[in-house]
Amino acid sequence: MCGIVGYVGSKQACPILLEGLSKLEYRGYDSAVVAVLDGEKINVQKARGRLSVLSNMVDGGKSVNGVMGIGHTRWATHGEPSDVNSHPHVSSSGRFAVVHNGIIENYIPLKKRLMEKGFQFVSETDTEVVAHLFEYYYKGDLLEAMTKVIHRVEGSYALGVLCSDYPDSFVAVRKASPMIVGVGRGENFIASDVTAILAHTRNVYYLEDDEIVMLSASGVKIYNTDREEIKKEIFRVNWDVSAAEKGGYEHFMMKEIEEQPKALRDTISPRIKDGKIVLDDISLTSEYISSLKKIYIVACGSAYHVGVVGKYVIERMCRISVEVEVASEFRYHDPLIGKGDLVIVISQSGETADTLAALKEAKARGAHVLSIVNVVGSSIANASDSVLYTWAGPEIAVATTKAYSTQLAVIYLIAIYMADKLGRLENDEYSRLIEELNTLPDKVSKILENKSEIQFLASKFFSSKSIFFIGRNLDYAVSLEGSLKLKEISYIHSEAYAAGELKHGTISLIEDGTLVVALATGDKLYEKTISNVKEVKARGAVVMGVTTTHHEHAEDVCDYVVRIPDADELVLPSLSVIPLQLFGYYVASLKGCDIDKPRNLAKSVTVE
Ligand code: G6P
Repeated sequence: MCGIVGYVGSKQACPILLEGLSKLEYRGYDSAVVAVLDGEKINVQKARGRLSVLSNMVDGGKSVNGVMGIGHTRWATHGEPSDVNSHPHVSSSGRFAVVHNGIIENYIPLKKRLMEKGFQFVSETDTEVVAHLFEYYYKGDLLEAMTKVIHRVEGSYALGVLCSDYPDSFVAVRKASPMIVGVGRGENFIASDVTAILAHTRNVYYLEDDEIVMLSASGVKIYNTDREEIKKEIFRVNWDVSAAEKGGYEHFMMKEIEEQPKALRDTISPRIKDGKIVLDDISLTSEYISSLKKIYIVACGSAYHVGVVGKYVIERMCRISVEVEVASEFRYHDPLIGKGDLVIVISQSGETADTLAALKEAKARGAHVLSIVNVVGSSIANASDSVLYTWAGPEIAVATTKAYSTQLAVIYLIAIYMADKLGRLENDEYSRLIEELNTLPDKVSKILENKSEIQFLASKFFSSKSIFFIGRNLDYAVSLEGSLKLKEISYIHSEAYAAGELKHGTISLIEDGTLVVALATGDKLYEKTISNVKEVKARGAVVMGVTTTHHEHAEDVCDYVVRIPDADELVLPSLSVIPLQLFGYYVASLKGCDIDKPRNLAKSVTVE
């Protein structure tokens, strides 16, 4: 989704804006712009396509003069990617330049009214109304105009606004769209996320909805909608610059796959003290857990797939019914939740619009919301009753890997913690499960040592037209993620199916040579899945089995077998997903796809 960077200081702004935008490229975009105020005039430079086109156009920023500016990468929502639709939108007098991430939901009536008042529109975007509203409301006080504008617009927005009457400062605001404020020495920043400014400062303000920020080189002032200055705490980000750089890898995705053992360790270890799970960050008492009739897990994309694993794990360990739902559905179907219910919300970015809306819906109905989030200070983290952070560090590749794995780890922590509080675990069993969690990072490392084996398999199948993933129960949950990983980055059609359901229709798609990736990791359902493998093989499929070390005879039925270390059945998804991530990666790489930035996709989906 759109990315925003803003700078004011003593250095030339344009190269800093371009560098910041390059760190936000992963969010997904189809055009890029910079707008720099050179003391009097706002100089706007736009380019469709990749940021490098814009960068070449402005000679890496050298040809644009000025020490204050805003930059934007646009992921088109209203109107095609084109110069006229790309931001910043400039008001008719040229006095205001506005960049926006989000959607102005009432832009049509606003546009109509502004047109009646003589304003001329040139783009199809919702954002252009904001530029004209500034012009309309501005009576010499930028802060006052900002409060009036946000009073009129509905929807979600992160806005950065330059005004040529203010050569030394600019103004920004956010509501339900991400934006942070970076505080440097003699220079200050806004950005859609911290990775864009990490090279300059790690001191940030996280803004609440409708907090307005006025930035100049000498300082940052934050106001509420009554224009009263408010004091906020500065937060020091512990991510370092290298965490958001490729560090010798060809793609962020492979770097992030390889970072999984560390990310798992960072997420699990601090929460296990003297052999006990300590979740200081949440306050779920035994009484509360015992009172739960149902738990909802709500999320989007891969985070939803974590929820599907969570359902199996929590139900099995705690014997509490769990319903998992994609946030875009949950938010609109009048969910049957109320006071005292527990809703677990999962999100890497903490900004996914549907997930945030679902969370608000759940809270409005009196539910307790526990979120699992990677980005500290994000909207979902802020809006939740309690948060368990995944300590995965910044994830840049659109296709998630380490965030998925750490979310899964947190699900295990919650499940074991709750089962213990419910008195469902004997001491030995508890200690054994803790040991299972502690050994996960090493087992993941072991799988990663054999990645050339997966690369070889990818070389056999990268020209497939269609690939199926099958499994039962937890293996089915992981199949969903394996299939998504493959299709999102390699553009190969793929479906995940519950292995037993295949013969109710999907098996008719199996032809000679169709690849079926069959997950048969646990013991209980191993033979059942193997029967399904035989069914697809009988219809010409080539089968790649994924199983654990002790299933010695898998080769008798599968054409290829990928082995993962043995582990307790409940935590096997943390291991079986790794070869699937690698498979997706290598297939996409062999097809020459843009792995980190797949077509049409965005990392952080801030519109519904
Ligand atoms: C996008 C990303 C996915 C992610 C999903 C949910 O579609 O490409 O990788 O799983 O959004 O994002 P979240 O930040 O809420 O986990």
